[in-house]
Amino acid sequence: TVGMSTNILWHDCPVGKVERQKLLGQKGCVIWITGLSGSGKSTLACALSRELHCQGFLTYVLDGDNVRHGLCQDLGFKQEDRAENIRRIGEVAKLFADAGIICIASLISPYRRDRDACRELLPQGTFIEVFMDMPLEICETRDSKGLYKLARAGKIKGFTGIDDPYEPPLNCEVTVEVKDGQCPSPVTMAKQVMLYLNDND
Ligand code: PPS
Repeated sequence: TVGMSTNILWHDCPVGKVERQKLLGQKGCVIWITGLSGSGKSTLACALSRELHCQGFLTYVLDGDNVRHGLCQDLGFKQEDRAENIRRIGEVAKLFADAGIICIASLISPYRRDRDACRELLPQGTFIEVFMDMPLEICETRDSKGLYKLARAGKIKGFTGIDDPYEPPLNCEVTVEVKDGQCPSPVTMAKQVMLYLNDND
């Protein structure tokens, strides 16, 4: 079939995952942060990475915006491009987790099917989906990049939450919500995820 790899065998290395984990003193996993643009995904990714790092854990952040400058620079925002973006980052995150690293991926990843496909790539219990459950109005008010304004003016087509869909998770591990009309601080959000990680080691 076109595009399929044929005549390729799997090559096993003598140093395995368990040995790497022993060396690092930690288990690899993927923390997948999903939500609208401006919902705080990157902020949480950074705060979480800082918090874990300070506690002696090796982390690596894969941020949608950044990965689109390299690995995914050929992709746009059509449904199939987003699917390919998520697929590639899911595969890379899987490699990081296999290396023993706590990989924090922060992408809008608006389609449930794409996120679930990434979950399927990972060993049971090592894909932790974090949903930034922020109302569109809050994200739009923040509009730190001015993209919502452009989308409302019709200057960006297919903007998530405006004229493109976002499918919230049905069974995610952590939901970050607005409490009493207040968005949680970066440290509060990070601690919420840390609590989940500690309880579900
Ligand atoms: S996706 O849907 O998961 O493939 O998107 P992602 O790789 O996370 O990239 C989202 C960032 O790209 C900017 N941007 C857009 N977002 C949504 N829809 C459209 N049409 C769009 N065009 C550009 C936007 O800055 C997103 O950044 P974040 O960090 O989410 O605010």
